[in-house]
Amino acid sequence: MEGPDIGGNRIRTPGLDVEPVPIDAEVRVHDARAGEDDLDRSLRPPTLDDFVNQAQVTEQLAIFIEAAKRRGEPLDHVLLAGPPGLGKTSLAHIVAAELGVPMVQTAGPALERKADVASFLTALEPGSVFFIDEIHRLGRAVEETLYPAMEDGELPVVLGQGAGARTVTLPLPDFTLIGATTRAGLLTTPLRDRFGVSHRLEHYNADHLAQIVVRSARILDVSIDEGGAHTIASRSRGTPRVANRLLKRVRDFAEVKGTGEIEAGVAAAALEMLEVDAAGLDRSDRALLDTVATKFGGGPVGLSTLAIAIGEESDTIEDVLEPYLLQQGLLKRTPRGRVLTQRAYDHLGLPAPEGAASLF
Ligand SMILES: Nc1ncnc2c1ncn2[C@@H]1O[C@H](COP(=O)(O)OP(=O)(O)OP(=O)(O)O)[C@@H](O)[C@H]1O
Ligand SMILES: [Mg+2]
Repeated sequence: MEGPDIGGNRIRTPGLDVEPVPIDAEVRVHDARAGEDDLDRSLRPPTLDDFVNQAQVTEQLAIFIEAAKRRGEPLDHVLLAGPPGLGKTSLAHIVAAELGVPMVQTAGPALERKADVASFLTALEPGSVFFIDEIHRLGRAVEETLYPAMEDGELPVVLGQGAGARTVTLPLPDFTLIGATTRAGLLTTPLRDRFGVSHRLEHYNADHLAQIVVRSARILDVSIDEGGAHTIASRSRGTPRVANRLLKRVRDFAEVKGTGEIEAGVAAAALEMLEVDAAGLDRSDRALLDTVATKFGGGPVGLSTLAIAIGEESDTIEDVLEPYLLQQGLLKRTPRGRVLTQRAYDHLGLPAPEGAASLF
């Protein structure tokens, strides 16, 4: 009989069906709009200093990291919340790099069984960062396995089955769990409470996005002036990933239709071709607003009905489309459903229906 192989890539314990998980596998589960992981990776800021904006987050993290390093202790567990593309994964990489420790990455849906967590945790090099993306998608049993691991650095494992079953406790190497979520609201209180550090990333303003665009242009060897950077920045839905993606598309346009140099005019023309409007809304955003206006009289309309009407997943609407529309004051959430605002009607160039004012 083989016992647990602590520190190896797997544990084999009688009664526990533990499949080895490839530790260096980067598990990337669905990302509604990304599909440009290589771009993300190449443009990822490597240090806290390169991480634009979010000063309240980076300043605090810098202090906690420094303190942990001085004490020679692992950093407290960190929860990073916020809409897609604002820098959660980037920050997790940065924290590991600044701590000078390895990072092992997985995602909530990939941890299907307690044993999956066990094989990750027992294989960690001491001090490592264990990054769980989409941590709100962990199953309840798996989540409960994490509680003692996070709190006491130990892992209870049930040996055997039925009446003969008994629990043994495996000591774990020190580690820092970094959880990322687009939906902090779905996290259970016990899990949330076990993170010593918790940050919410917010949408970026145009100046900060312009800084990111200029930096990315430098890395991609694209020549861009301030006007070009601002034009892209102001239409990027407050989201660095979108800014980087638009920069690449605008570059293509500038190379084919212009001199290759990106200035305001060529950027605006390219974005028009890409159907990104002056408010930064793309076709899917406008389809959502337009559908609420024309098919549902401006709302209120429930999420699932809306999802069917526009042919998107409910998750995509909640994670990707809505946060920016809500933040821009184009859409409101009410107990009875989603409602368009006057601003949305102005944007669509449609008159608000009679009686809509009472809903605003
Ligand atoms: N503060 C920042 N400064 C510079 N670049 C940034 C910043 N935040 C994000 N980016 C850029 O945006 C890209 C997307 O960021 P990242 O993958 O970290 O987002 P995320 O929050 O993990 O998104 P998701 O929820 O979809 O996983 C990065 O590759 C990076 O180039
Ligand atoms: Mg991410």
